[in-house]
Amino acid sequence: MNSKPTIYIIGTGGTIAGEGSNATTASYKSGQINTKRLVNAIPGLGKKVNIRTETLFSTGSENLGPDNWKILALRIEELSDDPEINAFLITHGTDTLEEVSFFLDLVLKPKKPIVLTGAMRSSTALSADGPANIFQASLAAISPKLKNQGVLVVMNGLIIQGRQAIKTDSLALESFSSYPGGPIGKIVGEEVFIFGIPRPSPIMGRFHSHLLNQMELPFVEIIFLRGGYSENLIKIFENNNSNGIVVAGFGAGTMPKNLAKVISEKAKAGNIFIVSSRVSRVSVLPETMTSIDHNNVLPAGVLNPQKSAILLSLGLKENLKAFELVKFLKLLEIQ
Ligand code: SIN
Repeated sequence: MNSKPTIYIIGTGGTIAGEGSNATTASYKSGQINTKRLVNAIPGLGKKVNIRTETLFSTGSENLGPDNWKILALRIEELSDDPEINAFLITHGTDTLEEVSFFLDLVLKPKKPIVLTGAMRSSTALSADGPANIFQASLAAISPKLKNQGVLVVMNGLIIQGRQAIKTDSLALESFSSYPGGPIGKIVGEEVFIFGIPRPSPIMGRFHSHLLNQMELPFVEIIFLRGGYSENLIKIFENNNSNGIVVAGFGAGTMPKNLAKVISEKAKAGNIFIVSSRVSRVSVLPETMTSIDHNNVLPAGVLNPQKSAILLSLGLKENLKAFELVKFLKLLEIQ
């Protein structure tokens, strides 16, 4: 009798499936290796799990966005009732890994573990990290200690809640961190260690309705502030037609006074703003951000601009009001 669990691995491209012309070059082409070939090269994996594979996308994750993430979410849902599948593993480019993991956590009500991983070095590079990441992500996917956790990311031996994954370095192997709060566990050899009692996101699956209709997500602009140039930035705000705008402000959510004035006017006209920050570990609270006295201007809490834009976009699609979005932003501050 075959008692090994079965993992369904969905490849979506990225560096993990990238191929360079030789082992020492820093340049490579993303998404070249098909998922079956990628996985077959991993020593020891077949002893732990049965594997089924599919290549859904073969590209760098800079080319993937909400429409692709929805296709991925629907594919996972479609396969979730298959009794022969015990868990899902998604291989993905790391550049937008934090966005896809956040999105999947918001739209899926997972029946089975879903773990995402990627690699910082291509599959042909010296000391490629993809094989170890896939092996470790597989251990997390079948671990009884990680049941019902929603979407997880495993990178460089760390187990991170999908909503909390952030990419912090363009090239380093230890690029991925968990924020806010640390990783929920780590993998050493073949052992999965869990720190404390992990909790899935309090709003996991809250936007599942997005998967049930064809309507596109509304576009949310992110406006990135920088020192000076506030007159030019004012024009960008004034000319923007999105219903929702995320401000990548300074530090803990500050911005020049003249910009705050324009935002306040647009908020009065009905636009919803989330004020986030350019820093990698964001904390924007009502008392730390530049004060703008309007209910349509929301502090991002701990969400970076790209995650804020996903939440705002899903919220606008449901016609949620600012006060409802505030509740989600608050809940996401919980570690
Ligand atoms: C990508 O995101 O597709 C390229 C970068 C990477 O996977 O590390």
